[in-house]
Amino acid sequence: MFPSSLVGKWTTKSAATVISATSFIVFLIFDFLEVIFCIIYRYLDEFFEGKAYRCYCGDRGELQGSVGDDRESELSETLYGRNNVFRQMRFLGFARKWENRKKAFGGGGGITVWSDCGCESCVSWMKDGGGQNLHVVVKEPSTGDPTTANENCCGDLAENVIFLHGFLSSSSFWTETVFPNLSEPVKRNYRLFAVDLLGFGRSPKPKDCFYTLTDHLEMIEKSVIKPFELKSFHLVAHSMGCTISLALAAKYSNCVKSIVLTAPPYIPSSKEGASLTALEKLAGKRLWPPLIFGSSFMSWYEHLGRCVCLLVCRNHRIWEKILKLLTWRRDLHFMIMDLTRHTHHSAWHTMHNVICGGAKFLDENLDRLMKSGVKFCVIHGDCDNVVPLECSESIKSKVPNAEINIISNADHCSVIMGREKDFTRNLEHIWASFADTELFL
Ligand SMILES: *[C@@H]1O[C@H](CO)[C@@H](O)[C@H](O)[C@H]1NC(C)=O
Repeated sequence: MFPSSLVGKWTTKSAATVISATSFIVFLIFDFLEVIFCIIYRYLDEFFEGKAYRCYCGDRGELQGSVGDDRESELSETLYGRNNVFRQMRFLGFARKWENRKKAFGGGGGITVWSDCGCESCVSWMKDGGGQNLHVVVKEPSTGDPTTANENCCGDLAENVIFLHGFLSSSSFWTETVFPNLSEPVKRNYRLFAVDLLGFGRSPKPKDCFYTLTDHLEMIEKSVIKPFELKSFHLVAHSMGCTISLALAAKYSNCVKSIVLTAPPYIPSSKEGASLTALEKLAGKRLWPPLIFGSSFMSWYEHLGRCVCLLVCRNHRIWEKILKLLTWRRDLHFMIMDLTRHTHHSAWHTMHNVICGGAKFLDENLDRLMKSGVKFCVIHGDCDNVVPLECSESIKSKVPNAEINIISNADHCSVIMGREKDFTRNLEHIWASFADTELFL
């Protein structure tokens, strides 16, 4: 007889071996398919668009300069640094031949790519002016008098708040949760801006853009800060929006009054390794839990991810019809609708260039904000399995005077969904303690 603890240890160990062997084989198959689909898409793109799109299957050196874009240096290392056994073996001699052909970034044809949805709502940003600005939902302070409600009553006296959503989401993430739960004094005195980030929701999704942190910042400046002449504002962000909001706040450190980070993807590491560490931590090649598997699949495999977008996003109207039939509902939840409101190009580049590539700027931005004395508040659910709770604990050790609110039994979304009222009250208290005008809530 073995002592039971030994047997237990042995089963755990063999289970771990089986799991790691399975995941090794599964990801090996994906590696292989990725190389095959790289070739298939080149043929298809040449056929439909007259030109192949640039992909990140080659080495960085090989591809560098092929675009002649000064943004090249801002591309995340994770775009090239994703190991693929088959690609490294280069056993496909003819794949190399293709690689050497001139690969263009923009492709030919119109503004949409054949593999993206061209339905009216997906291309609405191209109307009037061709997508110069982000889609922004503005809630002006109300006067309380219904005839003049939604008129800007207070002008510069109003407090401004900018809301930034996370990955595969949109302004609805805030307008459907926080906006309906605002208290009367805040409704009267605050001007709120919820943006659809570049490449998501109803905002432009240009196919000749790298979706770097700089691109996202410039669009927010152009669509919110400049046109509304904001001299001061509060920031509220969720998940990936936190990376963008920290960069925005660091750039406007004299204007930011407070910053609320909900589930911020902050992973401390050296600056050089930050992007790959972020990819490994947030989307490491793992089969379980399903959400991590999904994000690793979509962020490690450019061409396989494009297949998923082709199936799901391009046909989102059909899927929505099927879901409505199955659930007997007339309207789907806004978060389901938002999941498909992107192109593969916009989501792929934002994942790499903002979530991973932006990771190396987090420390520097936090340092700058600490110096300028901006008030930080971090909110995180303790059951979050997308962005681990350690991220907020790391912020706490980096920024000792940050206020940390850990919400028990809440995950990445239910930190807000299902507790909209509490979340909104919390925000209002934070804003009020850093506003110029005293409000009695
Ligand atoms: C708060 O928001 C939720 C979600 O939108 C909504 O169901 C609820 O009715 C709102 N509460 C109030 C008081 O408006």
